[in-house]
Amino acid sequence: MSKLSRDAEHEIAFTLNGRRVRARAEPRTLLTDLIRHDLGATGTHVGCEHGVCGACTVEIDGEPVRACLTLAAQVEGAEIRTVEGLEPSPGELSPLQAAFREHFALQCGFCTAGILISLDNLFRRRPDASEQEIREQVSGHLCRCTGYAPIIRAALAAQAAIREEEPADA
Ligand code: FES
Ligand code: FES
Repeated sequence: MSKLSRDAEHEIAFTLNGRRVRARAEPRTLLTDLIRHDLGATGTHVGCEHGVCGACTVEIDGEPVRACLTLAAQVEGAEIRTVEGLEPSPGELSPLQAAFREHFALQCGFCTAGILISLDNLFRRRPDASEQEIREQVSGHLCRCTGYAPIIRAALAAQAAIREEEPADA
């Protein structure tokens, strides 16, 4: 069986957090397994593995996507961003990450990477997103620890901080 599996592997090239990467994967390999086990991007978590919890959310070509429902073979040529790609520079937190820390928006942290990716995507697409839109974005993620209120507080604080950082329109 392992010989058959090896024979079926093929090479995939894509961009992960701004870096071109190449990997080999079987047709059945999930993107979560490829990025976590082969490429070391372990910030992306795997919860339900069937598209419900949102823990595995990554950004693919500008869209938040469940990586547990994505085959590695599907991302040939894509631009992928994971939670590791949110840091503005190594060791520095983005305003969204800093707000999560400040507002205690995580406890075990299992859901956090996926929520950060979804909210980061929302704020880049819709800097003026309403609280309702923020809540809808977060509704795609299960969190068993926080009760969600600190997550919404952190998201609103991050949105305000991001707006302050932006240069005023000329
Ligand atoms: Fe992908 Fe739960 S692990 S949605
Ligand atoms: Fe534990 Fe969200 S912080 S599941």
